[in-house]
Amino acid sequence: MTENANKTVLVTGASGTLGSAVVPVLEKAGYRVRPMSRHAKPGWVVGDLRTGEGLAEAVEGVDVIVHLASSAGKPRQTDVEGTERLLAVAKPAGVRHVLYISINGLDRVPFGYYQAKLDTEKVVQRSGSPYTILRAAQFHPFVEMLVSASSKLGPVIIDPSWRVQPVAIEDVAGRIAELLAVPPTGQIIEYAGPQVITFDEIARSWLTARRAKRPVWRLRIPGRMAKAVRDGALTTPATTTGTRSWEDYLATKY
Ligand SMILES: NC(=O)c1ccc[n+]([C@@H]2O[C@H](COP(=O)([O-])OP(=O)(O)OC[C@H]3O[C@@H](n4cnc5c(N)ncnc54)[C@H](OP(=O)(O)O)[C@@H]3O)[C@@H](O)[C@H]2O)c1
Repeated sequence: MTENANKTVLVTGASGTLGSAVVPVLEKAGYRVRPMSRHAKPGWVVGDLRTGEGLAEAVEGVDVIVHLASSAGKPRQTDVEGTERLLAVAKPAGVRHVLYISINGLDRVPFGYYQAKLDTEKVVQRSGSPYTILRAAQFHPFVEMLVSASSKLGPVIIDPSWRVQPVAIEDVAGRIAELLAVPPTGQIIEYAGPQVITFDEIARSWLTARRAKRPVWRLRIPGRMAKAVRDGALTTPATTTGTRSWEDYLATKY
């Protein structure tokens, strides 16, 4: 039996894109994993960050919380206030490590959801529980969703100079497991994929991979947020990066 077998890890957002990859990685590492959702499932705990329902029961006997749950639609109530509710019960329950997943560059890009995540980081930092904050770059499926959504009318409409450093879900899940294997850092750690890539390259490679013949309409998206992304605000100088590239993602999927 490994040392991890004695540790119970609550995973919020376990049903989400990242959570679905994190749960099996932590189970493989030997942890007792307790996935949380608002919806009842066998072997899961029910908890709702927005109402607080089930949170006290969810953290009972928990050593570590991997906090992934988020709502881009209602981030103030779910992320900021929900995290306050979760951590208010986590500390008295004796939780020894809170690993919160945040987003690379969120303090450099003016965007409402990012501001809420930044405020949530502060909730984690003030909570009194030992913590690690992992700021991840945009996940490959999220970047694909952006390009796909931009092509609803036919042509792919993008700002060709937007620069991102997308990361594989599996790499983020692996990084989370690495950070759980060491004591809480009390720091913010940035993490991204192996390469910086423009939206021009992303759109072209996506069309090629899908053998789709569509025009690409390139435009300079106005506004401060778009400028920040052009300036590389979502990329990071961090030297520990994922290994799977955007091209790897496309090759696996198509
Ligand atoms: N997507 C990206 O590119 C990206 C990049 C960097 C960081 N992140 C961060 O990574 C995390 C996971 O992202 P994701 O894309 O995997 O998210 P996702 O697929 O949208 O999943 C969101 C999760 O949040 C849970 N949730 C929503 N409202 C809740 C509530 N009121 N109470 C409890 N749980 C609630 C959902 O669980 P149920 O529906 O089962 O309740 C779901 O599992 C987020 O914190 C996000 O900010 C994302």
